[in-house]
Amino acid sequence: MARGDRFLKACRREAVDCTPVWLMRQAGRYLEEYRLVRKRHSFLDMCKTPELAVEVTLQPIRRFDLDAAIIFSDILLPLEKMGLRLSFTDAGGPVIENPVRSRRDVVNLRVVDPEEDLVYVMDALEMARRQLETIVPLIGFCGAPFTLASYLIEGSGSKHYHLAKGMMHTEASTFHLLMEKLTDMAARYVNAQVRHGAQAIQVFDSWVGILSTTDYRDYVLPHMKRLFSSLDRSVPSIHFGVGTFHLLPLMEEAGGDVIGLDWRAPIDEAWALLKKRPAIQGNLDPTALLTSFEYIETQVRDILSRVDGAKGHIFNLGHGILPTTPVENVAFLVDAVHSHGGRPT
Ligand code: CP3
Repeated sequence: MARGDRFLKACRREAVDCTPVWLMRQAGRYLEEYRLVRKRHSFLDMCKTPELAVEVTLQPIRRFDLDAAIIFSDILLPLEKMGLRLSFTDAGGPVIENPVRSRRDVVNLRVVDPEEDLVYVMDALEMARRQLETIVPLIGFCGAPFTLASYLIEGSGSKHYHLAKGMMHTEASTFHLLMEKLTDMAARYVNAQVRHGAQAIQVFDSWVGILSTTDYRDYVLPHMKRLFSSLDRSVPSIHFGVGTFHLLPLMEEAGGDVIGLDWRAPIDEAWALLKKRPAIQGNLDPTALLTSFEYIETQVRDILSRVDGAKGHIFNLGHGILPTTPVENVAFLVDAVHSHGGRPT
C-alpha cells in the first residue's frame, strides 16, 4: 500500500497495511530547517507567504516517513479578519490587543470571506497539494468555537479562563452570539480549505477540557453539532481536544469521523467509551519523545497492543510536539509505529 493511502483509509475505518502516523505541530521549532526559515521571518509572515508556508509544511515530510502533511498556519489567523489585532510574542505565544469583552464587541466582529480574506491559506493549500499529490494527503484545520472564544475573550492563553467562563455564565446570550459567529466562520473556513485542496479537516478544541460536562452540553455542544453538520462530507473530519476524557461521549455526539485524544487516558479505555464507533487518533505523551528509544518503543508497543489491530487507528501525539524534541527520536517513533503497527482485523 502506498504511503499516501493509509491515513485516509484509517479515517474511514478501512483496512490498512500498517498504522498511519502524523504528529501535531510536525512543522515547527524542533526542526533545524524550520528554525533557519524562522530566523529570517516572523511567524505571521511565514503563515501569510504561501511559498514559506508550503516549504515548512513539506519539511517534516521530506525528513520522516509520515503518512500525512498538515498545512502550516494557525487557528488564530482568521480572527485578524474578524477585527482583532493579533501578534505572536517570542516568549508567551499569541496576544490579542483588543479582546472581546462586551456584547457590542461581539456584534462588531466582522464576517470573514475565507476565499478573499485568507487567500494566502488557500494558495498555500493549492501549492502544497500539487507538490504532495503522489506522496501523502494534506490536512486542513480550524480552531473550534470554544477554543477561539476563549482566546478572543481572554486576549491570550490563560490558566483558569475566568473571563471566558465569566461571560458564559453571566452573559449567556452574548456568549452564544459569539459562539454562533465563530461557528459560521469556522464552517466556511474549513469548507473553503476543502475546495482548495485539503483532503481531511482537523478541528482543534484544545482548551475545551477546562469545562464541566454540563457547561459543555449547555454552551458548546449545540454549536459543535452545527459546525460538524455544516462540514463538507467529501473529506473526513477529526475532532480533537485536550483534557477531554470526561467530554468524549459529548464530543462524539457533536461529530467527527475521528476523535483525537490527549495522553491522559489509555486509548482502549477512551475508544471503548465511544463503543468504537468513530475512528481514533492518538495518543503518545509528547514528553515521551524527550526520552530514549527504549522508552519510546515501550510506549508505541503499549498503544498498539491496546488498539490490537482494530481498524480506524491513526497514531499521533496527545498534543503538539515539543520544541526541544530530538529529531532522531521522531524518526525512531515513525519507524516503530510502522514496523510494529497494527495488523488489520
Ligand atoms: O501542526 C502543524 O504542524 C501545523 C501548524 C499549526 C500551528 N499551530 C503552528 C504554530 C497548527 C495546527 C496550530 C494550531 C494551534 N495554534 C492551536 C491548536 C493546537 C494546540 O496546540 O493546542 C493553538 C491553541 C494555537 C495557538 C498558538 N499558536 C499558540 C498557543 C502558540 C504559541 C505556543 C507555541 O507553541 O509557540 C502558537 C504559535 C505557533 N503555531 C507556532 C507554530 C509552529 C510557533 C511559532 C514560532 O515559530 O515561534
